[in-house]
Amino acid sequence: MQTPEATSENTAGLSRRGFVGMGMGLAAMALMPGALASNPGAAPVPQAGPAAPGRRRLGSLDVSAIGLGAMGMKNGAYHPPRRTEDMVPVIRGAVERGVNFIDTAEVYGSHTDEELVGEALRPVRDQVVIATKVGFAVEGNSWAYNKRNGRPEGIRRALEGSLRRLGMDHVDLLYLHRADPAVPIEDSVGAFKDLIAEGKIREYGLSEVAPATVRRAHAVHPMAALQSEYSLLERVPEAGTLQVCQQLGIGFVPYGPTARAYLADIFNEYSRFAASDRRSSVGFCSPEGLAANKPILDLVRAWGVRKQATPVQIALAWLLTQDPRIVPIPGTTKLHHLEENLGAAAITFTTEELAEFRKALEAIPVHGVRAPGSVEVDQ
Ligand SMILES: NC(=O)c1ccc[n+]([C@@H]2O[C@H](COP(=O)([O-])OP(=O)(O)OC[C@H]3O[C@@H](n4cnc5c(N)ncnc54)[C@H](OP(=O)(O)O)[C@@H]3O)[C@@H](O)[C@H]2O)c1
Repeated sequence: MQTPEATSENTAGLSRRGFVGMGMGLAAMALMPGALASNPGAAPVPQAGPAAPGRRRLGSLDVSAIGLGAMGMKNGAYHPPRRTEDMVPVIRGAVERGVNFIDTAEVYGSHTDEELVGEALRPVRDQVVIATKVGFAVEGNSWAYNKRNGRPEGIRRALEGSLRRLGMDHVDLLYLHRADPAVPIEDSVGAFKDLIAEGKIREYGLSEVAPATVRRAHAVHPMAALQSEYSLLERVPEAGTLQVCQQLGIGFVPYGPTARAYLADIFNEYSRFAASDRRSSVGFCSPEGLAANKPILDLVRAWGVRKQATPVQIALAWLLTQDPRIVPIPGTTKLHHLEENLGAAAITFTTEELAEFRKALEAIPVHGVRAPGSVEVDQ
């Protein structure tokens, strides 16, 4: 296997765009009309006022334009779980660098990721927006990813566990990690609505659900954010999900925004992943995907040369331009990667550049991504 550690990083030899502060650049950022083409029939949705400079708005939450995904710190998705004492400085270092939006879930590291996030963030609780997720079922001593628990009492019980592990009295954003096919989404959202009224959560979200489910949920109580996979490589949300979020004023939080490090340009067609690495079951990281998707890397490299940025910065900057309510949460265990990722916030594109980018992107066939029709199905 070739792991990120075993490969050279950013071999394109580009000058890295340094971290220049989350507030810079965004104001000047052109907004992309392509993916989120306007909805002529959509009624405007009242919003809770503009976000603070350099921040983005998810419902009532003011968040940094780029958040931090903490999954990989403890769940072993991409490398062995990291030690808490090594990760606390990364999370606190992110906050010191302006990141206020941290993403975890009860399943990550089977509860240990929430414990880590709690330990790191309790001293700065009032400065951060903490998102966690519940909704997978436990079977015996392990998580059953094909089994869900979206029943109101299950959500409530799971949240109590999350709060205990975080050592906090509320969660800012609680997602249902996956819709439960056995429970109407209205029932699950009813639980979130009650928890908001009780002050135990500030906002709620869903993850990997179809546009129709988003509409049903939002009709019960306004949803702050939908979290689903979205990157330059995996663009299935463009088949309807992003449009419904834009129409209803719901934030969109792309996970896997670096295409699980692929867009950091650290793999090539000879890279292989161990069975324990999540990427071994991701289509675009298969041997065929790694070989076939090279033109996407050529694209981010070429734009990196034009913008004096690294490939992953181009990938993240492009996401930020798709809509002002998009807040990517790249996952990293390294402060130098975090700093590189934050540099994306300073990159601007003109409308003409975005159109040129989009044209080149759509001319590239991609391998190992989801079928457009899959967007209509809750995952
Ligand atoms: N809702 C869901 O179902 C769901 C599913 C998956 C993930 N998530 C959330 O979304 C977050 C992000 O998704 P993800 O972690 O799957 O994908 P990702 O952010 O696209 O990729 C993470 C990988 O990229 C590497 N990386 C990050 N920045 C890099 C850089 N500048 N240069 C080189 N490598 C870099 C990380 O390694 P290093 O540690 O070496 O930097 C890690 O291996 C997760 O942490 C989690 O919170 C949610």
